[in-house]
Amino acid sequence: MAFRVLQISDTHISRERPFFVPNVEAILGHVAATRPDLVVNTGDVALDGVARPDDLAFARELHDRLAVPYRAIPGNHDIGDNPYPGRAAKQPVTAATLAVWRALFGHDWWSLDIPGWRFVALNAQLLGTGLEDEDLQWRFLEAALANVGDLRVALWIHKPLFLDAPEHDIEPLYRYLPREGRLRLCGMLDGVSTQLVACGHSHQHVARDHGVCRHVWAPSSAFILPDAIQSRVGDKTCAAILHEFDLQGVRSSLIRPDGIVDFDITDHPGAYGRIAPIDGAAAR
Ligand SMILES: [Fe+2]
Ligand SMILES: [Fe+2]
Repeated sequence: MAFRVLQISDTHISRERPFFVPNVEAILGHVAATRPDLVVNTGDVALDGVARPDDLAFARELHDRLAVPYRAIPGNHDIGDNPYPGRAAKQPVTAATLAVWRALFGHDWWSLDIPGWRFVALNAQLLGTGLEDEDLQWRFLEAALANVGDLRVALWIHKPLFLDAPEHDIEPLYRYLPREGRLRLCGMLDGVSTQLVACGHSHQHVARDHGVCRHVWAPSSAFILPDAIQSRVGDKTCAAILHEFDLQGVRSSLIRPDGIVDFDITDHPGAYGRIAPIDGAAAR
């Protein structure tokens, strides 16, 4: 029997600006009908949890309606963003934003063992912040990997690690983990049998194999960014990912819950205002 995890990501929930909530309702219906063993939300749970903590509180209310257990990790729109060279975060991660997250969704890094596998979930947003919690998270990761034994490892994290190779910096830099943390993390994951990296953030679906590890970027369930404002690296659709884990490996497939709509962010300027193109692209 496979252990089935429905990965949702980038739900961008807000009570005050509920543009994308209909897609959460579609997911709730899908989960009730299909009953996976676990739902994991890989971040950007809220539309703007830093400016409006009620977005996170409402997201918690909606997640509590899931028919099965769930876990979540934070994204940049939940607790603030990483600093990048030449680009300080407009909304930095702080002790206060971490406290709001933890009060509503529990700890921002965690591990969970299922038959044959160890799930390790990290708070991508801590990397490069210099906060004490960044060090604490590295220590957690060292401990989680030190006694992994014969278990395969699946990493859950908001931001993609890289596009083609850990050492390549690709614009826009903030689509990926910051370089220093990325190289440290990849070095640690290479030391164990890491076979899945499951992330979100880009609002595009990408599945790429790097050695024995498959990197699966979940699309957003909330909205897509059209090519005019975000360069395309994968499929742009609103959907979720079903991961089926067993003792042989994992199968990951794109799932379109009944009723889900491909909302286009440019049709909803009330969400984030007008989004300017960057890199030939915008994006999150
Ligand atoms: Fe997002
Ligand atoms: Fe994000």
